[in-house]
Amino acid sequence: MNAIKALVTGGASGIGRAAAELLLERGASVAVLDRDVSGAPAGALALQADVTDDAAVRSAVARAAEELGGLDVLVNNAGVGAQGDVAANDDAEWQRVFDVNVFGLVRVARAALPHLRESSSAAIVNTCSIAATAGLPNRALYSATKGAVYSLTLAMAADHVAEGIRVNCVTPGTADTPWVQRLLDAAGDPEAERAALEARQPMGRLVSAREVAEAIVYLASPGASSTTGTALAVDGGMQGLRLRR
Ligand SMILES: NC(=O)c1ccc[n+]([C@@H]2O[C@H](COP(=O)([O-])OP(=O)(O)OC[C@H]3O[C@@H](n4cnc5c(N)ncnc54)[C@H](O)[C@@H]3O)[C@@H](O)[C@H]2O)c1
Repeated sequence: MNAIKALVTGGASGIGRAAAELLLERGASVAVLDRDVSGAPAGALALQADVTDDAAVRSAVARAAEELGGLDVLVNNAGVGAQGDVAANDDAEWQRVFDVNVFGLVRVARAALPHLRESSSAAIVNTCSIAATAGLPNRALYSATKGAVYSLTLAMAADHVAEGIRVNCVTPGTADTPWVQRLLDAAGDPEAERAALEARQPMGRLVSAREVAEAIVYLASPGASSTTGTALAVDGGMQGLRLRR
């Protein structure tokens, strides 16, 4: 993967950090765009920017392309969570979460496309979620944003296939990241909450950030050159299996 130049949003924690690390291990040049770059992996170019700020995104993407000498891969991974049913959050919260999870992805993709068009093996990988394809309780707002990410993945794949830019997404189940740890810490009984999340996935455990990173890096790599407009589940069997208890 020597030639690959990759930009990973939300690359300073959890799944994004694992993807940035794996890309680096495979020989890629990597830039990380994050609102807090303190956890960016060593060896990556760390670019502090909030995906809700269009000017900051444009300047960070331009800097990534300049310092790396172009862009082949964009991993749109930055995201935030939200809890509750459809009535649980006010308009401001709906706008805030869409601003990060959906419009943020749009802003980064918009800025990156001119650079990706110059690449001979361009790929965008979006971090979607099982919440886009299965009904999870108390995740109405979050699921709506990830449904949008799924649809955008398909639409972008169609728009850019003729330009040689592949667009795919991963749909992780519950993954063991700082995000999920924060949710567990906030639960009344963190151990019981963790056990319930583990039991929901047929493999009986949470997905690791590294496992999601492996799928992201595969979809980003020239080895996936005939794959576009797909969602790769990394969910311990949660989407596809129906086991007897
Ligand atoms: N952890 C899970 O169970 C799980 C499951 C399915 C999908 N996902 C998705 O994976 C992605 C990463 O989640 P994670 O679990 O690694 O979370 P995380 O909180 O560990 O990492 C998210 C990163 O995104 C960055 N970020 C958040 N808002 C930002 C903004 N406005 N601008 C720039 N950077 C911003 C954070 O600073 C952080 O570094 C998210 O899109 C999430 O929806 C996570």
